Amino acid sequence: MKMRIFAAACALTALSMFAACNNETELNIETVGDTMAYNTTNLTAPAGGTVKLTLTNKATSPAMQHDWVLVKPGSEQEVSLAGITAGAAKDFIPDNANIIAHTKLTKPGETDTITFTAPVTAGDYPYICTFPGHYPMMKGVLKVN
Ligand code: CU
Repeated sequence: MKMRIFAAACALTALSMFAACNNETELNIETVGDTMAYNTTNLTAPAGGTVKLTLTNKATSPAMQHDWVLVKPGSEQEVSLAGITAGAAKDFIPDNANIIAHTKLTKPGETDTITFTAPVTAGDYPYICTFPGHYPMMKGVLKVN
């Protein structure tokens, strides 16, 4: 009986919200042409929820490589500098305890999808691109609520 109620609720959810029945939040973020910019500086996710995020690198210039790195509040500059220190061998993504989730470093035309668990504590979590020189322009906030 419980199973039947659950299935019915799922069907309703799928119809009304066009969403899967697993509480997964789908987020999409793109980079803007051959600039150092994301197409949005604000994303939202539920605390403790499963997030499926896709980064699409819309650039055509080979120099425009980008990633999406979610960090603990206040650590964005430290992680950015650590990325530069990590260097090209690590795709400028450091081993750093402040990193909550990250995509790979994408080349122009590439897409990367990651799945992660949003922080359980509500708050504003910064995301940045750790490619050298991009952080001052490429940053935003994931609102966890
Ligand atoms: Cu970038």
